[in-house]
Amino acid sequence: MTTLAWSPTLALNDVVMDHTHEEFIELLNAVGAAGPDTIEAAMRAFVEHTEQHFAEEERWMTESGFPPLGCHQNQHNMVMQVAREVCARVAKGETTLGAPFAQAVAEWFGDHVTVMDAILKQYMDMQGYTPVMQAA
Ligand SMILES: [Fe+2]
Ligand SMILES: [Fe+2]
Repeated sequence: MTTLAWSPTLALNDVVMDHTHEEFIELLNAVGAAGPDTIEAAMRAFVEHTEQHFAEEERWMTESGFPPLGCHQNQHNMVMQVAREVCARVAKGETTLGAPFAQAVAEWFGDHVTVMDAILKQYMDMQGYTPVMQAA
């Protein structure tokens, strides 16, 4: 089951950010589609990737002096808090939590990318700051 599909409306025309967001969607869909035997690994992969995704954006915000850093970071923190909790509960046997989690995050993600990440991208362009992913 596909929870969220990549679409041109999500593109920020930044190779690094768009690639990360396509990976995010792929991993989120894997969570949504996982069965009882695969959900724990799928959640762990999603959490690991999203930790890095959000941490990189926050580093770019700090380095470029992005003013609404706190607001953007709060959204990341809220999602990570829920993701870590779902991951822990799945590991304890609540394997049906993955699908509703993936659905809720999919509903949140479109707005986050087209508002928060888009503003960050615009600001970095104005500052002449080029986002680069650090090696994991
Ligand atoms: Fe993002
Ligand atoms: Fe973000």
